[in-house]
Amino acid sequence: MRNLLNDDKKYILNTYRRSDLIIKRGEGSYLYDSYENKYLDMYSGISVNNLGHDKGVVNAIINQAKDYIHLSNYFVSPPVINLAKLFVENTFASKVFFTNSGTESNEAAIKACKKYGKKYHENKFQLLSAYNSFHGRTNGGLSLTGQHNYQRDFLPLLPGVHHFEYNNVASLREKVNENTCGLFLEMIQGEGGIVEISEEFIYEAIKLSKKYNFLIVIDEIQTGLGRTGDLFAFEKFNIVPDIVTLSKSLGGGLPLGAMLVREGLEEVFNVGDHGSTFGGSPVACAAGEYVLDKLINTDILEEVKDKGRYLISKLNNLKEIYPHVIKDVRGRGLMIGIDVGEYVNEIKEFSIDNYILLNSTSSTVIRLLPQLYMTKVEIDDFLKIFEEAILLCNK
Ligand SMILES: Cc1ncc(COP(=O)(O)O)c(C=O)c1O
Repeated sequence: MRNLLNDDKKYILNTYRRSDLIIKRGEGSYLYDSYENKYLDMYSGISVNNLGHDKGVVNAIINQAKDYIHLSNYFVSPPVINLAKLFVENTFASKVFFTNSGTESNEAAIKACKKYGKKYHENKFQLLSAYNSFHGRTNGGLSLTGQHNYQRDFLPLLPGVHHFEYNNVASLREKVNENTCGLFLEMIQGEGGIVEISEEFIYEAIKLSKKYNFLIVIDEIQTGLGRTGDLFAFEKFNIVPDIVTLSKSLGGGLPLGAMLVREGLEEVFNVGDHGSTFGGSPVACAAGEYVLDKLINTDILEEVKDKGRYLISKLNNLKEIYPHVIKDVRGRGLMIGIDVGEYVNEIKEFSIDNYILLNSTSSTVIRLLPQLYMTKVEIDDFLKIFEEAILLCNK
């Protein structure tokens, strides 16, 4: 039989830490391997398969593909317009630019901020983002990603990008000036270990953006589209962002991203300022229309809030019983981090042996990103195995 793991190593550049599991198919909250072993999937493709493995997405893709898969952006296309219209009619957005990925959405936003700054003066091109943030791996996205370990081998990156301490108002004030054109922020740092923005910090950032006339870009690539129990995580606060960047679950598993801009920024790009061959693919947008319609027109967001509260309260109970293993429980909705210190790998390995797939981030944090339709029975199944794993570590 073909050895897929060996062939993968032989033919593909070694940039990913692959699992030994070979997945055959997905259904609801589960992934099945080639022996029909059934694994509870707490990754959801790192928050891409937010609706689980949903047949409705498959049908939307097939129906559009039967008409055409691609046209080029010289032609209008109903699914692309329909998805943009859903955003404009149901969110702060006034217009949309479609991309293929998260990092490309941030690249679009970098250019939008720079063009906005240029309108005022030549030197207004500085961009700010937080240390420990994650905004992607292309040159611009990586410049914003405030983690030296990702940047080190690729320096120098974009000029004019500066980093501040997340949730540290004094640090932000120090970095902001008349030359700032954009500030990129995650509402919950996902790759940074599930760390939530403070109310004080976000309101200060908005105040500074008015004082120094720069754009606030909220990177909702991981937090957006229902993950935290709201359509966007920023909705917890009483704010209107200038720009929101999206991707991950937007295309229901197909590559799709978006940059949403508020009223007043519709003219930030003109013809020829930006573009993409595949950005806003009709097939990906047809899947996106299905995904966004579910989020807007069903009770799913309320369910995510309810299940998130349930899961977080159960995890906090475990933290009280096993403080030696569980140092912290953080997050909102179904985006949850459990800081288990040095026990991360032990817990992950035990869980796989017991048919639960757990992801980790930031070296000590188990990151839970289950599909949004995960049931309470499935949550209890996870908690049972998770407690058994903790018991092993607690010895
Ligand atoms: C907050 C955030 N921004 C940007 C990105 C980059 O997205 P992509 O991998 O689609 O380029 C990610 C990916 O994990 C992310 O979590």
